Amino acid sequence: MTRLAVFASGNGSNAQRIIEYFSSHPSVTVDLVLCNKPDAFVITRAEQLGVSIRVFDKATFYGTSEIPDFLIENRINYLILAGFLWLIPENLLSAYPGRIINIHPALLPKYGGKGMYGMKVHEAVIAAREPESGITIHFVDENYDEGRIIFQAKCQVDAGETPESLAEKIHALEYSYFAGVVEGIVTGD
Ligand code: GAR
Repeated sequence: MTRLAVFASGNGSNAQRIIEYFSSHPSVTVDLVLCNKPDAFVITRAEQLGVSIRVFDKATFYGTSEIPDFLIENRINYLILAGFLWLIPENLLSAYPGRIINIHPALLPKYGGKGMYGMKVHEAVIAAREPESGITIHFVDENYDEGRIIFQAKCQVDAGETPESLAEKIHALEYSYFAGVVEGIVTGD
């Protein structure tokens, strides 16, 4: 079995899709959800789906090896960042080289970097009058949103588009593609 841990900071709709997608998979399981916010809705989702949860704070994440140790103890093979907003520390990158995958709600390298997450991305895309936006699935390195791109999909930004309507289009793309792209990487297909 290939074991995944999903990291999420908030709502967790992508985390839920990924858990559901792999729930009856023959060779891939989602064993853990890790979250940096004790009141995040992703925790409720994971509980309802029967997936173990670990919540951690900044001091633990950046100041100790508890999280990489915990993941290794649990024989986790890949880390999937699904709406996770903190930079990945060096000890986690070196424990999982080339094995951390993130989804970003824009066409990187545009509209990435520190502070560019969620609705802020969609607001910036609309303010710049971009004709299109999309999703980027990429490997994670030591900088925000800069690792090697695995997959992108695009959507139009229509006249009168709002950050909310664009977020809906982006979420639809994420739900269509993220789990399948992860499957391709972790199964080597
Ligand atoms: C998703 O759109 C994801 O691409 C984005 O946060 C949203 C989380 O939604 N990630 C980032 O902005 C990372 N920089 P969800 O919690 O409902 O899955």
